[in-house]
Amino acid sequence: MIRYAAIRGWGFYAPDRVLSNFDLEQMVDTSDEWIRERTGISERHIAADTECTSSMSAEAARRALASAGVKASDIDLIIVGSASPDYLFPATACLVQDSLGASKAGAFDLEAGCSSFIYGLSVASQFIAAGTFDNVLVIGAETLSRFVNWKDRRTCVLFGDGAGAVVLGPSEQPTGVLSTVLGADGSGGDYLSLPAGSSRLPASHETVDNGDHFIHMSGNEVFKFAVRIIGDAVEQAIAKAGIRIEDVELFIPHQANIRIIQSAAKRLRLPMEKVFVNVDKYGNTSSASIPIALSEAVASGRVKDGDHLAFVAFGAGLTWASAVVKWGV
Ligand code: UT7
Repeated sequence: MIRYAAIRGWGFYAPDRVLSNFDLEQMVDTSDEWIRERTGISERHIAADTECTSSMSAEAARRALASAGVKASDIDLIIVGSASPDYLFPATACLVQDSLGASKAGAFDLEAGCSSFIYGLSVASQFIAAGTFDNVLVIGAETLSRFVNWKDRRTCVLFGDGAGAVVLGPSEQPTGVLSTVLGADGSGGDYLSLPAGSSRLPASHETVDNGDHFIHMSGNEVFKFAVRIIGDAVEQAIAKAGIRIEDVELFIPHQANIRIIQSAAKRLRLPMEKVFVNVDKYGNTSSASIPIALSEAVASGRVKDGDHLAFVAFGAGLTWASAVVKWGV
C-alpha cells in the first residue's frame, strides 16, 4: 500500500501587537509610501516580551492539532523550522514537545532560512511514506524582531513575528504532499546572515559593538536570486507531481515582497487571482509565512478538497524549496 502524507490539520498564531508603517516612520527615516511600494507591506505583528519562538509554535500547534482532531499524545514527531529559535540548544522543538505534552514524540529543529517549513514538510512526508511515523507536526515559526536592528531601515521594515503549523498523517488516497523540491547555494550565504553568537564568531563586546548579532542582508542580491529561482523551483515540483501549471488552483509563495510574488506569478503565467497574498498584514515572517498563509487561505474558503496547491520559498543559505500539495484527506 502506498502511504500518502495528507495535511489533516492547520493553524497559526500571530502576536497581538501590530506595528504599522506609520509607527516605523517614528522610528527610522522611512515612509509608509516607500514601504508599500517597494515591498507591499503595511503592517507586521511583533511578539510581546513574554513571547518567543517556542511559545508561538506551541500555540499554532495547539490550533493545528484541534483542527486535525489529533491529541498531542498521538504525535510521533515534531519538526520546528526556524531561523530564530529560542536557543542554539536545546532545540525549540523539544520545548514545544514539553509544552504540548506530546509524550511519545521525537523532536528536532530544522534550519533552512525562510525555506525551513517546506524542508520540514519534505522530511515529514518521507517519514510517513516510509511507514516510520503516522502523525507528524511541522511548524514554521520566527521571532525575527529580536534579531532586527531597529535603527536599520533597510531591514527593520521587512520582518514580522508569528508561527504556523500543520499536522500530517497517512492516507491511502493520492493526496497531500505530492512532490517536494529542495535546493541550496551556499556560495550566497553572506547575502543574508546573522554573523555572531555561534561557533565561528562567538559573542563578545566587539560583536555587540559591531552589530553582528543583527540580521545582515544584501536586499538586492536576495531579490535577484528569488526572482531567478522561484519559477524553476515551482516548475520542477509541478513536473514531479505529474500535473501542469493550469492544474494549480492556488499558489502560496513565501511572503517576502509583493514585487517578488508578482514577478513569480508572471513568469509562471498564473493570474494573480490564483495567488495568495497576505504580506501586507504580516510582513516577512520567514519560515512561518507559508503555514500562516495556508491557514488563512483555508479559513477564507479559498481551498477546496481536491485542489492542487503550489508552495515555494527562498531564503538564507541561500536555500529554496517548493512543493505541490493536493488538498483533502
Ligand atoms: O525571505 C528572504 C528575505 N529577504 C528578502 O526577501 C529581501 C529581498 N529584497 C527586497 O525585498 C528588496 O531588495 C528590499 C525591499 C529589501 C529593498 O528594495 P529595493 O527596491 O531593492 O531598494 P534598494 O535596496 O535598491 O534601495 C533603494 C533606495 C536606497 O536609497 P539610495 O541609495 O537610492 O538613495 C535605500 O537607501 O531606497 C532606500 N531605502 C529606503 N528608503 C526608505 C532602503 N530601505 C528604505 C526604507 N525606507 N525602509
